[in-house]
Amino acid sequence: MKIAVIGTGYVGLVSGTCFAEWGHEVVCVDKNSDKIAGLKKGRLPIYEPDLDKMVARNHAAGRLSFTCDLVAAVTNAQVVFIAVGTPSRPGQGDADLSFVYMAAREMAPFLAEGAIVAVKSTVPVGTGDAVEKIIAHIRPYGSFSVASNPEFLREGVAIGDFLQPDRVVIGIEDGRARAVMAALYEGSLGATPLVFTDRRTSELIKYASNAFLATKITFINELADLCEKVGSNVGELALGIGLDRRIGTRFLNAGPGYGGSCFPKDTLALLRTAQDYGVVLRIVEETIVANEARKRKMALKVIEAVGGDVDGLTVAVLGLTFKPDTDDMREAPSVPLIETLQRYGAVVRAYDPVGTENAARLLEEVTLLDDPYECVRDADAVVVMTEWDSIRRIDLSRLRRLVRAPVLIDLRNAFEPGAASAAGFHVSVIGHRS
Ligand code: UGA
Repeated sequence: MKIAVIGTGYVGLVSGTCFAEWGHEVVCVDKNSDKIAGLKKGRLPIYEPDLDKMVARNHAAGRLSFTCDLVAAVTNAQVVFIAVGTPSRPGQGDADLSFVYMAAREMAPFLAEGAIVAVKSTVPVGTGDAVEKIIAHIRPYGSFSVASNPEFLREGVAIGDFLQPDRVVIGIEDGRARAVMAALYEGSLGATPLVFTDRRTSELIKYASNAFLATKITFINELADLCEKVGSNVGELALGIGLDRRIGTRFLNAGPGYGGSCFPKDTLALLRTAQDYGVVLRIVEETIVANEARKRKMALKVIEAVGGDVDGLTVAVLGLTFKPDTDDMREAPSVPLIETLQRYGAVVRAYDPVGTENAARLLEEVTLLDDPYECVRDADAVVVMTEWDSIRRIDLSRLRRLVRAPVLIDLRNAFEPGAASAAGFHVSVIGHRS
């Protein structure tokens, strides 16, 4: 099938590359000519494990190409995916849809007869209807369909999530488009369920999924606080409840609060939609408030661990990105933690295996290092913020010899229980007494 993908961010680039991997002929379009020039040379705008190899393989095979020429890309495509960004509007919280609507306007005159425009960007309920109106207005006699096909991939494991998803959701309003969308996925996905629904339900499924997962994480984070007080163990508690298949063990890792480009933005946007329709989503509201408060509270945990005052102390932060295997710093809990510690007078040094370039744009007066041992030299406290493999594998005895004071605050429970204490650290962890 001939496919065009508008937008080469996470969703667009991963989807386009994976469709090519399945044998489709894919053209990825972006307005940013530097990005396109880089992609043509195999230089990716994002860090995602193995994506570079998959891009190179499909590019060389002629199934995957990159262009700034939207008209040429759209003219022959049977399916055009819109995968542009939908950032939060500052101060508003709702999704900014200007890139989605711009893409619809620009492609409308050039769509092939019978083409399907499938919206992969995360968009509020009713966006598909608006896209349909925009296109119909520009080409009143053309035949086309607009589908919603939200993406559920996670950064860091995006390829696996795309190629072996739990389900594919397709919101569609006509039978012909349904058959084309089914053909696009069915051949490659085997037994994976395709959930066909109407467009509005499909759009809401995406937000409901992210809000549910954010709530699940927030629930276990709050239980972790209780575990610390009553002397229980949150890891074992999560296993104990999660093995009930109605609950499920995944997304029950307590930590410093969720971050990233999706959960914070999408929970806010869902709230805005609910407000617009006069509905109160109290659980989602509380999740947002609790998560924000938690991110800040983590700094106080560090201060408590060093005896109540960090003024003049050196704190080494291990891991900066919002989770491992990505260079993404958006809404990373490390940022409010570091800023709060600095406000209390701490001097901060930080290590991340790939995130330091993005971190440098957000953080001021932090010494950024790409070696964890160099980072902890003469530190008065070490804080684990992201559970990168390179951090989990750290030689704790060597770490102990380098620090000034042996205080370790492990906000991801990254180390085996007891390992850091055995190496001589005073340890503070999440959700149990260390
Ligand atoms: C999330 C969803 O998981 C994807 O399904 C969705 O497609 C994506 O948003 C999106 O809407 O584009 P992502 O933001 O890449 O994916 O990352 P997650 O793996 O979901 O992690 C989000 C945050 O939650 C991270 O800060 C992570 O550390 C935290 N988290 C996750 C926990 O604190 N505990 C957990 O058990 C799981």
